[in-house]
Amino acid sequence: MNHAAEVTATKLMGPEPSKYGPTPSLGFNGSTPGPLLKVRQSEELAVTFENRTGEASSVHWHGIRISNGMDGVPGLTQEAVLDGADFDYRFVAPDAGTFWYHSHSRSWEQVARGLYGPLIVEEITPPDVDADIIVIVDDWRLDEDATFIDDFDGMFHFAHGGRMGNYAKVIPSQSSVRRGDRVRLRLINTANARVFPLDLTGIEGKLVALDGMPLEHVENFGTVTLAPAQRADIIADVADDIEFSFWTGQDDYALGAIVVEGSNPSPRSAEILPLPSNDMAKPRGEPERREILRMQGGAMGGQHPGEDIWSFNGVSDLPDQPWLKAERGSAVQISLVNDTSFPHGIHLHGHHFYEVAEDGSLGPLRDTSLVNARESRDILCVFENPGKWLLHCHMLGHSATGMKTWVEVT
Ligand code: C2O
Ligand code: CU
Repeated sequence: MNHAAEVTATKLMGPEPSKYGPTPSLGFNGSTPGPLLKVRQSEELAVTFENRTGEASSVHWHGIRISNGMDGVPGLTQEAVLDGADFDYRFVAPDAGTFWYHSHSRSWEQVARGLYGPLIVEEITPPDVDADIIVIVDDWRLDEDATFIDDFDGMFHFAHGGRMGNYAKVIPSQSSVRRGDRVRLRLINTANARVFPLDLTGIEGKLVALDGMPLEHVENFGTVTLAPAQRADIIADVADDIEFSFWTGQDDYALGAIVVEGSNPSPRSAEILPLPSNDMAKPRGEPERREILRMQGGAMGGQHPGEDIWSFNGVSDLPDQPWLKAERGSAVQISLVNDTSFPHGIHLHGHHFYEVAEDGSLGPLRDTSLVNARESRDILCVFENPGKWLLHCHMLGHSATGMKTWVEVT
């Protein structure tokens, strides 16, 4: 079965901080976030991308184990889609979960201006909930007249933590729930650079998935930390208004709420169970190879031999040859070593990987791993998707100024 959709990227107005006028931005089909694209697991999604933004662009389907030609990376998997041109994206979504799509052309500016939207792959048998709610978390960098501050290419942002917004909020796909409802919340951090340590009140439930991949065991949660591009799924029962906030380091910043209206006459009492797992290759025994990927550069002590602000292993920007050539099916353990003074959210295209715990056991499957300043983390990936795959920091200004490389799976 096909699921066809059209997304037209155009200029538009929105979001609207209440006391100011609308913000001229970019969007898909007249809105930012763009329309919800939904497809059932193992079915094909066909999307015609019509670029009317006034500049070259492309669409990346973040987290989908997609066929390489549909990955949306200009210069690696396709030519950029010129203004006025169209591109047909067509792919099967093998994994059920919470994903998103976004521009992958000058993304540090186009995503910040609004070119992104949610992409949901539905389970064959979805969990039993009263409401399935997408919660986009983002920040915007706005002037006093609520237009974007035009400092997308600001060197200061590039060399530090990235271009942070001065206005942040959640955009839930529905504004109210009933007391006693069981809800699924799909949190997506679409910000360019901000790591959100999210606090949620008013619900009681479990964390059930990260980056679209079900957790083997559902988990209690406190603060849910999401780096740019990361997602978390929560299944929970509503006791009161669901309020979202984050700790800025100085105070609690209120991001918005989903309010309670009425109550559910027959609340669910069944235990919250793990989501059905996706069919992911598990490594057998020891990894065949071990590699180190060192993040270097930036302000405050980031000396490195690369030619741009940031580098991986001393090499800035995309090398002609892949950093890693992996045979299809091989398991590679990669130590992500952060030698810089800033956190980085490292994203591998076309795959999910396991975060490896200190004791060597396999943690959750992710497509983006947050590595804090001066820390390191091992990940283990079974490279089973053939093609050329980008590996980059999802602090988009960091990727723009060197922190990216690629892997070839043959
Ligand atoms: Cu969501 Cu290459 O990125
Ligand atoms: Cu980074």
